[in-house]
Amino acid sequence: MPYAEITGWGKCVPPAVLRNEDLATFIDTSDEWITTRTGIKERRVLHCNLSDMARVASLHALAAADLDPMEIDLILLGSLTSDSQCPNTASIVADQLGARNAAAIDINSACTGFLYGLHLGTNLIKTGAHQKILVIGGEFITHYMNWSQREVAVLFGDACGAVVIEASESETGMIASRIGCESDAKYAIQITNVGSGYSRLTDDFLYNAWNFEGQEVFKRAVKAMAQASADVLDQAGMSLEDVKLVVPHQANKRILDALAKRIGISEDKVFVNVHKYGNTSAGTIPVALAEALEEDRIKPGDHILMASFGAGLTYGAGLIKWSNRVSPLITCDAELPPCEKTGLEIIASHVDRYKKHSLESVS
Ligand code: UT7
Repeated sequence: MPYAEITGWGKCVPPAVLRNEDLATFIDTSDEWITTRTGIKERRVLHCNLSDMARVASLHALAAADLDPMEIDLILLGSLTSDSQCPNTASIVADQLGARNAAAIDINSACTGFLYGLHLGTNLIKTGAHQKILVIGGEFITHYMNWSQREVAVLFGDACGAVVIEASESETGMIASRIGCESDAKYAIQITNVGSGYSRLTDDFLYNAWNFEGQEVFKRAVKAMAQASADVLDQAGMSLEDVKLVVPHQANKRILDALAKRIGISEDKVFVNVHKYGNTSAGTIPVALAEALEEDRIKPGDHILMASFGAGLTYGAGLIKWSNRVSPLITCDAELPPCEKTGLEIIASHVDRYKKHSLESVS
């Protein structure tokens, strides 16, 4: 049975920055609160669509693998913030790339979308059903944000990443993985007022309200990611000493520290970029992976541990054995269309819309 080697990787982060200080201009919060509770200093705000970010990240990943889009036979796109319900975003990306031989599937498992996709894609390659797969994870979460809810508005940002996996005889890629879901707690993270579960006849329809039980999610995230990590190490017959780097979901620096403590690995072995981007949901792991490679944190043959947790409440972990190549075969200069606006300017009308709606709901 073949392995699924990661042969390409890429990221796309939007240029517009939204700093903690910017948020404090319109919600009751502070840089001090956000920094001490989450470690986040700033996040990015997208000025186009999720599919645009996915296209750019994918072009970088395809170049790194030196593959033509026509060679890809499946696109798995993890996201909860699709361009549209129909067509699915994976189809839009396939068309933009010219990946005419690819099947296209969206995976909505929220923050774990990329890890779920890598788990599924790897196993599809192992069975021989597919040979070359593009796995994408990304989020346009600012589009779904309720900017009057300070408990969530400060946490999230937009970004996307992608990898190419290819059938290979050498033992590389995701060598062990486990995914799961604590569905009994599904409403601990909930975005309301969009979808057929909500009546179109109320004034609230399409005004997203988030239900977010932060402390409950925090505790469950640490526990589930630690257990899934132990499970994949067991599966592979390895121990933490074999792991060179942990590339976890980036939701909160305090969660990363608690995870490191619980699994018993030193903090310097945990890759962190949550301070720059906030929680980009399905985008966090592929973006962190691309940055770990850019920063030479991954060496040929290293074992990398990934762990994720998100709405659903979905969770998972994967153990990657990196191949012999840690640099792209070809570099690529694809980028998003230019953006003249600041992060605050992009969200301004959205912020006003929510302010007005909450005033109308009170009166
Ligand atoms: O990607 C999916 C996975 N997501 C996560 O894993 C997130 C997990 N949860 C967390 O990261 C943390 O629970 C949060 C960062 C969301 C919250 O941190 P916390 O330490 O659990 O704070 P808290 O919810 O207990 O709130 C403490 C106080 C409250 O005020 P009182 O009741 O003590 O007076 C909140 O109203 O902080 C208040 N607060 C804020 N204050 C300033 C909540 N949000 C804010 C804010 N700015 N943005």
